[in-house]
Amino acid sequence: MNQRLEDLAILGGKPTFEHQLHVGRPNIGNRDFFLSQVNEVLDNRWLTNSGPKVNEFERKIEEYIGVKHAIAITNGTVALELLIRAAGIKGEVIIPSFTFVACAHAFQWQEIKPVFCDIDPNTHNIDPLEIEKHITPNTTAIMGVHLWGRSCNIEVLEQISKKHNLKLMFDASHAFACSYKGKMIGNFGIGEVFSFHATKFFNTLEGGAIVTNDDELASKIRLMKNFGFQGYDNVTYIGTNGKMNEISASMGLTSFNSIDSFIAKNKENYYLYKNEFDKIDGIKLIDYSDSERNNYQYIACEIEEQKFGMSRTELIDILIKENILARKYFFPGIHKMEPYRSLYPYSSMFLQETEKLANKIISFPTGTAMDYNSIMLVTNLVSFIHQYAGEIKNKLQEAYVS
Ligand SMILES: Cc1ncc(COP(=O)(O)O)c(C=O)c1O
Repeated sequence: MNQRLEDLAILGGKPTFEHQLHVGRPNIGNRDFFLSQVNEVLDNRWLTNSGPKVNEFERKIEEYIGVKHAIAITNGTVALELLIRAAGIKGEVIIPSFTFVACAHAFQWQEIKPVFCDIDPNTHNIDPLEIEKHITPNTTAIMGVHLWGRSCNIEVLEQISKKHNLKLMFDASHAFACSYKGKMIGNFGIGEVFSFHATKFFNTLEGGAIVTNDDELASKIRLMKNFGFQGYDNVTYIGTNGKMNEISASMGLTSFNSIDSFIAKNKENYYLYKNEFDKIDGIKLIDYSDSERNNYQYIACEIEEQKFGMSRTELIDILIKENILARKYFFPGIHKMEPYRSLYPYSSMFLQETEKLANKIISFPTGTAMDYNSIMLVTNLVSFIHQYAGEIKNKLQEAYVS
């Protein structure tokens, strides 16, 4: 615990942590189990192309979510691209800007225009009340993103999409093992996409999945993710290579064995952070609803500069020097990144809440890499920074001008 300002690393002290703490440091399940799966894969010499591990993994997802079809894909981004293409989405699609850039890329890559819609500041998800103002004759779809694993207002999105005859899909990259009104995420819209990237609480190294209850859509996606092959030598459809490999699926099976303990750990970490941050003015950790299933994988907070004493960016600069690599997820908003900034320069006009939140948000490390002591060190440090914010800023300014 820093007792004096000079102890802060940004003012010349020793960093609180010797090694860097990352947001999204991978959770590794049972290593022996993983290695035994990998040995089987190597013994079988079946490394990819819908092998037994991928099949087992897909059936496990279907069972876990209670969904008819799970199709394991090489990563979440390609999964989005495939679902979009297989569903015949064209023209314009309404999506939030406050999310990961892949959400827009997956459309723009296929020359579909992402139209950015503002978020509800209370949920951080797309604001259903803002959607209709963006609908044009070219709009064919809405994509909600269940940010931080907290579901969109699905019921209202369903009503809007039905009223305007639009397709509704979801990016559920953050929401594996989460629910909406008691039903597992993965069962909504025409289909949903998970990311199992290494930084997600449940990982397959790289990987993702498309889940849907639509038989026709599922068989189309199965063809498309394998170059359109329907049996040997017979290509019936334009396709790409979106297949998950057997080692990734082995990691998925390993993650499944530990999913309950990963979630329990995230939940424990979440309440440790919450308990401490609740005592500090100007920092507000997101809530997870007690009546839903959550994976608690994000420690995302809003910093109110006036109350906290400094801005989110100033806080992050200090934490990074302490080897706490807190992140500005999701800054600055996709509409401020290229090519969107140049293609759609007037998006900002409709994105006031997005821009406010993008400047306040900070995500802290969690997962199995964090323990009680490290969380206490982080939260005590944040408390210290808040308490001495004015003095710290003065000292930094002095150091800057001298
Ligand atoms: C909301 C969201 N969508 C899509 C992706 C892309 O997934 P992947 O990295 O598996 O391609 C990510 C993160 O990685 C994400 O956070």
